[in-house]
Amino acid sequence: MDLLHSDDVERRIGARSFARLLGDWRPPTGRGISAALADRVRLLVLDGRLPLQMRVPAERELAGALEVSRTTVAAAYEILRDGGILHSRRGSGSWTQLPKGSAEAGMSSPFSPHGDRTLFDLAHAALPAPAEELRRAAAQAVQDLDAHLGGHGYDLLGLPGLRAAVARRFTARGLPTTPDQILITAGGQAAIALVLATLVNPGDRVLVEHPTYPNALDAVRARGARCVPVPLEPTTAGASAWDLDLVTAAVRDAAPRLAYLVPDHQNPTGALLDGAGRERLVALARRTGTPLLIDETLAELTLTDPSPLPVAAHGAPDSALVVTVGSAAKVLWGGLRIGWIRTAAPMVRRIGALRAATDLGGPVLEQLLATRLIDDLEPVVRARRAELAAARDHLLGRLGNTFPGWVPSRPSGGLSLWIDLGAPVSSRLVGAARREDVLLAAGPRFGLAGAFERYLRLPYTLRRDRVEPALDRLVTAWHTLDEAHPETEPTAVA
Ligand SMILES: Cc1ncc(COP(=O)(O)O)c(C=O)c1O
Repeated sequence: MDLLHSDDVERRIGARSFARLLGDWRPPTGRGISAALADRVRLLVLDGRLPLQMRVPAERELAGALEVSRTTVAAAYEILRDGGILHSRRGSGSWTQLPKGSAEAGMSSPFSPHGDRTLFDLAHAALPAPAEELRRAAAQAVQDLDAHLGGHGYDLLGLPGLRAAVARRFTARGLPTTPDQILITAGGQAAIALVLATLVNPGDRVLVEHPTYPNALDAVRARGARCVPVPLEPTTAGASAWDLDLVTAAVRDAAPRLAYLVPDHQNPTGALLDGAGRERLVALARRTGTPLLIDETLAELTLTDPSPLPVAAHGAPDSALVVTVGSAAKVLWGGLRIGWIRTAAPMVRRIGALRAATDLGGPVLEQLLATRLIDDLEPVVRARRAELAAARDHLLGRLGNTFPGWVPSRPSGGLSLWIDLGAPVSSRLVGAARREDVLLAAGPRFGLAGAFERYLRLPYTLRRDRVEPALDRLVTAWHTLDEAHPETEPTAVA
């Protein structure tokens, strides 16, 4: 299922796909229907769910698909034109755009919320740096730099020392790995994009969990490929799990070029795939020749039981059929912008050759810093796990008191709760929260076709003293939903 048709001339979205993407947008009272439609379109554009320069359906077609009058759609489009979200050319259609001014929103826009203490950023599920360890490693890295200054500093595959450190960490986690199986990237997202660029062609299908990590969905779309969503099934209250029969059937029926999966504390549900499930996945990949792109970005953040072995350890340690991507962002710090790809050595070289089309390697100093940190990761991991388990339990306790109607997951790892709000109001809640200076990612960011409007991802990454004021603001937002207008600036999510 994919929503967006692109061709050489223009990108456009059909009326039925658009109606699906809009989801449940109608106002509860039926009044203000054009404004509500305009609000939802604005949110989709600012949220990145509806790409820029996308031609929207003609008024008559959309009116038909939504079963509203043409006047309603015409009025909504007029509001969007006035607000700078649509631009039209007489007689030829309307296209999405960002309103003037939002791109220049400044240093503390939600796309770049640096040091803005008035914002509660819960759109990024990410922790502050482990400051002491980072400072120490940075001082050591400056010393280490000397050994590199005589060379040109380029390396498509990454510094050998860092590749070796990442390989040692995989080996310590139960997956024997050599440095030639590792390629260093500018973060997990860059790793995903590189693997897609190597293995997927425009028009191919890519199997994804539903819900899943939004920037991966964007990367699949940016590659011109189509997502095949496989639902994660609700299990007990708030929890989700893979139905591997469904995954198997989707691989058989849709013949995807690749399956992108996040088996370790899946973003956003927090679900963890057990060892038997991992074994089945690898067997499926082998049987059908479908490569697995396994995203381990959250794998180190297990809060309770020991983690299952990495997927590739289940019968494919040297196979190019399993390509694992990982990142220093969640266990260490997003600001490092260091990630990696682990797969068979020949595939590493193939991906490395392709990388030159985008960039020519990572910064040496950051790689030296990451080497020091990864070589001494265990104390940081232990501290992180304890800190996060306490933060998760604290937030769950406070939510139980504050929003008794919400049903949150209780994940065994990762950084976020996935909350069933009990009603399809996530986008409106996110809009209302934005007015209270709380940035959030609405449920539909994590899905296709407007799904997950009942859900909210809520990270437990805020400092303890900021949880209470953030919850106070969420309470205000929850009680002002009906007046909510979606946010007015684009929001980045991680
Ligand atoms: C599942 C998943 N994959 C990849 C990434 C991107 O990681 P990075 O910040 O290293 O690019 C994230 C970040 O939120 C993530 O949650």
